[in-house]
Amino acid sequence: MESLEREAAYFFHTYKRIPLEIERGEGVYLFAKDGRRYLDMFAGLAVNALGYSHPGITAAIAEQSRRYIHLSNYYLQDPQIQLAGMLVKHSGYCKVFFGNSGTEAIEGAIKIARKWGSGNGKAEIVSFTNAFHGRTMGALSMMDRKKYREGYEPFLDNFRIVGFNDAQALAGAVGPKTLAVVLEFIQGEGGICPVTTEFADDLERLRKKFGFLLVADEIQSGIGRTGTLFGFQHYRVTPDIVVVAKPLGGGLPLGAIIGGPAVSEVLEPGVHGTTFGGNPVACAAGIVVLREILDRGVMGNAAAMGKRLEAGLKGLQKEFPQLVSEVRGFGLMLGMELTREGETVVTKLRDRGILLNCTNEKVLRFLPPLIVEASHIDETVGQLREIFRTL
Ligand SMILES: Cc1ncc(COP(=O)(O)O)c(C=O)c1O
Repeated sequence: MESLEREAAYFFHTYKRIPLEIERGEGVYLFAKDGRRYLDMFAGLAVNALGYSHPGITAAIAEQSRRYIHLSNYYLQDPQIQLAGMLVKHSGYCKVFFGNSGTEAIEGAIKIARKWGSGNGKAEIVSFTNAFHGRTMGALSMMDRKKYREGYEPFLDNFRIVGFNDAQALAGAVGPKTLAVVLEFIQGEGGICPVTTEFADDLERLRKKFGFLLVADEIQSGIGRTGTLFGFQHYRVTPDIVVVAKPLGGGLPLGAIIGGPAVSEVLEPGVHGTTFGGNPVACAAGIVVLREILDRGVMGNAAAMGKRLEAGLKGLQKEFPQLVSEVRGFGLMLGMELTREGETVVTKLRDRGILLNCTNEKVLRFLPPLIVEASHIDETVGQLREIFRTL
């Protein structure tokens, strides 16, 4: 494929590209340049919640880009204000800061926590093994996996990583000096690993005891994907800071830090900012994303279709216990752990017209558009069954 050769020539070698050239996308489907149609079951890694070429999103982008594409954050911009208002209304939180990506939202959350803790003796940030928070140095300082960290040392000071779902390790790690605990309630890149209810309860108890901030990384799990606005809503916790990104801008780069009362007055003019963050075109798309997901039933669909997919995958686990060791997750954020590496299955599925992602070597990761229908779920489960029969 000529494009692959040119890619190898021109780019830093950071991405392992799928050998597929896409012409266009529509709904849950991608169409390759050779005319083949693919059902996309991982939706641009959880970005394309409303699928491709959503008419509401394309219209909002066209309309806003005719008004203005960029002004700078010196100006009041109604798409930003409207989107922030929707986030505040639906989340029950009080403040929003818009950035451009997930990792940038994580960095901002670290900065807010540091500001909050400056002067009160709290400094240490606790995170968990197997986490993924992004690629910037603050995010990497909270991650333990070698493949992301190796060669980038030294990392930031006052970060401590403890065992995921290990309540005893957490209890041993937090104390009066703990500034914040940063957590994906459902680890995404790490293989769709949810926090246990007991662990979440212990975390909440420790937070009350020591008064640290709880930061939920909802970049992959947030905005309706798990059948609730945020993944942490499957637990009895209320984080102080929530970070979202991926689906928020309808495919345009947009992230947000959403803060509760504990941190609402921490920032003042000039202490944090961004040139592009809260781009008005991205925010105009985001308004459509939130409207569809929260007001027009798409989140309900995610919950219902998630149940159907989970049941289908659990059925496969029963049929093929030698191949499938576990099915886990919430809503349309599901993982199927195999007893072998999953890339072969991904390739075979692609040959059958379905796109899926494998993470952490053995976990098939299902992150379809939230508008997916029963027939798409059944098709995916059916094709997986056919493939498993050949293995
Ligand atoms: C949970 C989580 N946090 C942070 C990030 C980083 O987001 P971005 O790639 O937009 O910087 C990701 C991206 O996959 C993620 O899944």
